[in-house]
Parts: sequence; C-alpha cells; structure tokens
Amino acid sequence: MEERLQKILARAGVCSRRGAEELIRQGKVTVDGQVVTEMGVRVDPALHRIVCDGAPVLSEEEKVYLLLNKPTGYLSTLSDPQGRPIVTDLLGGVSARVFPVGRLDYDTEGALLLTNDGEFSQQVLHPSFEVNKTYVATVSGNPSRQKLAELEAGIILEGRRTWPARIRVLTAGARRSTIEIIIHEGRKRQVRKMFAAIGHRVQALERVAYGGLSLGDLPRGRYRYLDRKDLDRIFSGKNPLYRG
Ligand code: URA
Repeated sequence: MEERLQKILARAGVCSRRGAEELIRQGKVTVDGQVVTEMGVRVDPALHRIVCDGAPVLSEEEKVYLLLNKPTGYLSTLSDPQGRPIVTDLLGGVSARVFPVGRLDYDTEGALLLTNDGEFSQQVLHPSFEVNKTYVATVSGNPSRQKLAELEAGIILEGRRTWPARIRVLTAGARRSTIEIIIHEGRKRQVRKMFAAIGHRVQALERVAYGGLSLGDLPRGRYRYLDRKDLDRIFSGKNPLYRG
C-alpha cells in the first residue's frame, strides 16, 4: 500500500514524522537508489527499496490477528524461565511475531487473542473501549441471587470497586454451579477474586467470547486467523451469548 514517505519512516521507528521531513529535506533518503527531497512522495514500502541515512527501511510486518482456544497449563507470556509451556508453543505455522493481547491465567482456558499489532492490542485492553469479555465459571456451591446481584452491581476488590458485571446462571447445583459473567475490566485474576469475595471458589474458568466474537467450535489448543469482520465483532459490544 502506498503511503507518504515521511509516514513510513516515522512508523518504521527511524525518527519522528518531523524528523523524517528533515532527513528528506537534507537528501538523506533514497527510493530505489534515487534521492527524494520532495515532500509528500507516496511509496509502497513492499515494492520499493527505501534507504534512510544509509540504512534500509524495512517494510512493516503484515498485521495478523489470531484467536487461540487456550488450554489450561499454558502461560500467556512469550517466555518462561521455568520452562513451562507458553501459548506461542501452540502456534505452529505462524511466522509473524505475535504476542498475547492481555492474559489468561495458567489455569484458565478459552479465547485468547494474539497479534503483532500494538495499537489494536491497546484498544482491546483499554477500559474506555469497554470490550466485554464473557467467562463461564464453574464455582463451588450455589451462590444466592443476592450475592450475584452484589457482583453485578460492583464490589470492592483491593480497594477499588469493580465495574458493573452481567451475570447469568447456567446451571445451579448444591455442590457446584456454572455461571456466565461478562465484564470489561481485566484485572489480574478478576473473576476468581470476584467469586471468592462472595464466598464461592472458582473451580474452572473459561473465556468464551471477546465482545461479539465467540470461540464457536474452535477446538481446544487450536487457533484461527481473524478477518476484518471478526475484528469488528470484538468491538461490536453486543454479545450474542447474553440474552439478558
Ligand atoms: N479472570 C480470572 O480470574 N482469570 C483469568 O484468566 C481471566 C479473568
């Protein structure tokens, strides 16, 4: 895709946009061996060789977006000093250097996004975008309506009130119950801590959707590439799993 030369230089981390203009003005930038001093020239970095001050400017890595159905027993990090399995171990065939968008606990399974697009990752994680995350928690006992209403309204966790959550009881039993909970915050071990706060231990936890993008029938341990429509679903806010 063609873009203005100064934008390409700035994005490649060579310099700021203004710094790029200065380098161009000084005749330090070449495109296919020709010095370019004119401002606003449009170039496709995938098709032309851009050199700035003697250093080649590499075309930006193509952005990729993956949805992984993470099994338990994998860390959402890029390395582990203790040598435990990490989520990227499950990405055979993916050459892009992707990283997880946020994290799922070692003992949590389900939907995990991975990308090499830092801006996208920030948007998904930033509370102002309010991307809903839907979890199915298997909890000990059978939480009362009143306790669940407290979670929905928001409770104080580590000195800060949680944002309102949406909750639906899927199965209720004396020994254990399964509960769908939708939140848009991403505090560490938040769902586990929320249920612990009302006296019900989370025994198993699965994230089943980001916004309107659900895991569907993606098998555990497998990933798929996301397209534009999938990405829009993440931000659509309407969660098809939630029927009020
Ligand atoms: N809440 C948790 O407690 N754990 C997760 O992995 C995600 C949300």
